[in-house]
Amino acid sequence: MRKPFVAGNWKLNTDSHLSVALAKAVAAGSADLAGDRVSVAVIPPFVYLQAVAKAVSSSAVAVGAQDVYFEPKGAFTGEISPAMLKDVGCTYVLCGHSERRHVIRESDELVGKKVTAAIHGGLLPILCVGELLEERDGGKMEQVVERHLWTGLAGLDVEKMSAVTIAYEPVWAIGTGRTATPQQAQEVHQFIRGLLAKMYGKDLAAEIRILYGGSVKPDNAKELMAQADVDGLLVGGASLKADDFVKIIHASV
Ligand code: PGA
Repeated sequence: MRKPFVAGNWKLNTDSHLSVALAKAVAAGSADLAGDRVSVAVIPPFVYLQAVAKAVSSSAVAVGAQDVYFEPKGAFTGEISPAMLKDVGCTYVLCGHSERRHVIRESDELVGKKVTAAIHGGLLPILCVGELLEERDGGKMEQVVERHLWTGLAGLDVEKMSAVTIAYEPVWAIGTGRTATPQQAQEVHQFIRGLLAKMYGKDLAAEIRILYGGSVKPDNAKELMAQADVDGLLVGGASLKADDFVKIIHASV
């Protein structure tokens, strides 16, 4: 059985005080479930990773980074390597979040290199995939999701693939208050699992967790999680309020 996984992507928010307070509140509020019944991760900005990792160190809450570079070291001003993220206590890393694809203009190939480098560096990547509104309206949703998967997972064998989590985040649902309906989410998640089965075989596809992201709130979490192929939630805005995030964690089991 796939254990539910709830991750909070703080994006470009919080400060040194707030990040630690939020992390501690999440650890305290999820102590009854985190670890055994649900995997929980918080994903703060780079500069607060170390402090947040320390704040949750005696809990089952894991820490993730919002991005990573694919080179291990050298003249790459402003970039952060997988080893650096491990060094400050990261377990997970987001790769190809839609804001990086569409605002920062990361290419599919770059995202794929990051996924591979993250695994080589001992991190667990969360590969984000998902279509823009015009792509959905133009009937291209499946094509885009398939391209994100093929390029994001390029070169990964079955063993490496078992380290990966997929997050389906329709771009039109992120930060817009317009959540995909549970049925829309299930339809795409099922499609993704089918593709993973073709790429890696049915057994592995049945083990890979596929998270939904996009305007997840305490009041829609349960219905989304009730879908057969929705294994967890990647939460943006609602993860900045400890109470809301804790409610979402409780709704996920
Ligand atoms: P949101 O963001 O929950 O604020 O829509 C989700 C995400 O971008 O991961």
